[in-house]
Amino acid sequence: MADNRSATLRFDNKEIELPIYSPTAGPDVIDIRKLYGQGGVFTYDPGFTSTASCDSTITFIDGDKGELLHRGYPIDQLAEKSHYLEVCYLLLYGELPTGKQLEDFESLVTNHTMLHDQMSYFFRGFRRDAHPMAILVGVVGAMSAFYHDSTDISDPQQREVASIRLIAKMPTIAAWAYKFSIGQPFIYPRNDLDYASNFLRMCFAVPAQDYEVNPILSRAMDRIFTLHADHEQNASTSTVRLASSSGANPFACIAAGIACLWGPAHGGANQACLEMLKEIGTPDRIPEFIARAKDKDDNYRLMGFGHRVYKNHDPRATVLKQSADEVLNLLGVEDNPLLQVAKELEKQALEDPYFSEKKLFPNVDFYSGIILEAMGFPTSMFTPIFALSRTVGWISQWKEQLDDPQLKIGRPRQLYQGAAMRDYVDVEKR
Ligand code: SDX
Repeated sequence: MADNRSATLRFDNKEIELPIYSPTAGPDVIDIRKLYGQGGVFTYDPGFTSTASCDSTITFIDGDKGELLHRGYPIDQLAEKSHYLEVCYLLLYGELPTGKQLEDFESLVTNHTMLHDQMSYFFRGFRRDAHPMAILVGVVGAMSAFYHDSTDISDPQQREVASIRLIAKMPTIAAWAYKFSIGQPFIYPRNDLDYASNFLRMCFAVPAQDYEVNPILSRAMDRIFTLHADHEQNASTSTVRLASSSGANPFACIAAGIACLWGPAHGGANQACLEMLKEIGTPDRIPEFIARAKDKDDNYRLMGFGHRVYKNHDPRATVLKQSADEVLNLLGVEDNPLLQVAKELEKQALEDPYFSEKKLFPNVDFYSGIILEAMGFPTSMFTPIFALSRTVGWISQWKEQLDDPQLKIGRPRQLYQGAAMRDYVDVEKR
């Protein structure tokens, strides 16, 4: 990483040498850790647009080329040739598994999908109309009250157990949040089903009749899980890393990540995007919405468009657009009006200089909602599915940080613009 190059910063008669590191891929970085000690100044970067918060070996995004690599493997190849639990293994352990390793890992996850039965009472404490993300935040955080034997982060074995428990139990928690919201009984996981099929069955089966998993939906579900698995230091992953830097237990850290993902600028965009497509309704209303998104005096944004890092097509959106066509065709709803609106909206936006000049392209959230709705999910379940998928990314980054000998508690500084010191004034003198 260090290649004996440095940047020289000169100001106020000071000259500070700052090391430059070259990554495997992406921009060089300037190590500013000694800047305050030697220069008495902070850097200033709200939103961290030019700041690397850590070094990592898990995921790399080339925003200009629209490339996404997980441990070096391109996302389009993984989406086509791999499947979610194999990608989980890759993200967690760094290499694609052998046949035996994959079989053992899948068996381990499969046999940890049930929840402590006492946890089922948690769901009943919520109102029926609670947003499933509110339930996810609550129940995942509460896991630290049930699984005490995997909360000690100093014990590698407990870290491993917590990782498997979270990956295995998130589909059950998300499915039960959905069942609770529609007043149907919880469906227990089955060990003879694969990960995606199990989730679909827990969501859509009822005790009154058998449920056959549609292999088309199961493959589409697994692909959606894979495409959302990890994405460098996005807002929710950074939240998990910051929470973990204080030594908080894994369940509390993942609950913090779920809370951050919920925002409409982040993982909540898939729900917001589908609601936007429904509001547009027909292609003839698209110009009205594009005009609003371009209007400087209107903070309206096209949901599912734009990205902090991608200044080209989000490769996940490209795969999802193809998947949307396939799934809707196979389900016999290829003339889905929302898909027509989405495709026309994408076409008109990308032909508009405002979007092309600002390099605003459809992101992962633009097409995912159309597929999820066609599969029978309500919009309120879109972000929980994103959270379920991203759990392995959060956990992989959490483990990587805990293994980092340089780990320090995250504690940013600030540019203080408030009042200078002043004396208290008694109320009768104000
Ligand atoms: C995810 O970080 C990740 O990796 C996230 C994610 C992951 O996998 O973890 O990829 C998942 O969160 C995808 C993004 C989902 N969010 C949305 O689709 C919401 C709509 N998009 C925007 O809110 C926005 O594009 C962000 C939040 C995604 C990115 O915002 P940035 O990087 O802070 O960019 P910005 O707000 O500074 O915008 C730059 C310019 C601005 O115009 P100017 O002030 O320069 O004139 O582009 C404009 C913005 O107004 N702009 C948009 C727009 N997004 C940006 N204008 C209209 N519609 C949009 N969607």
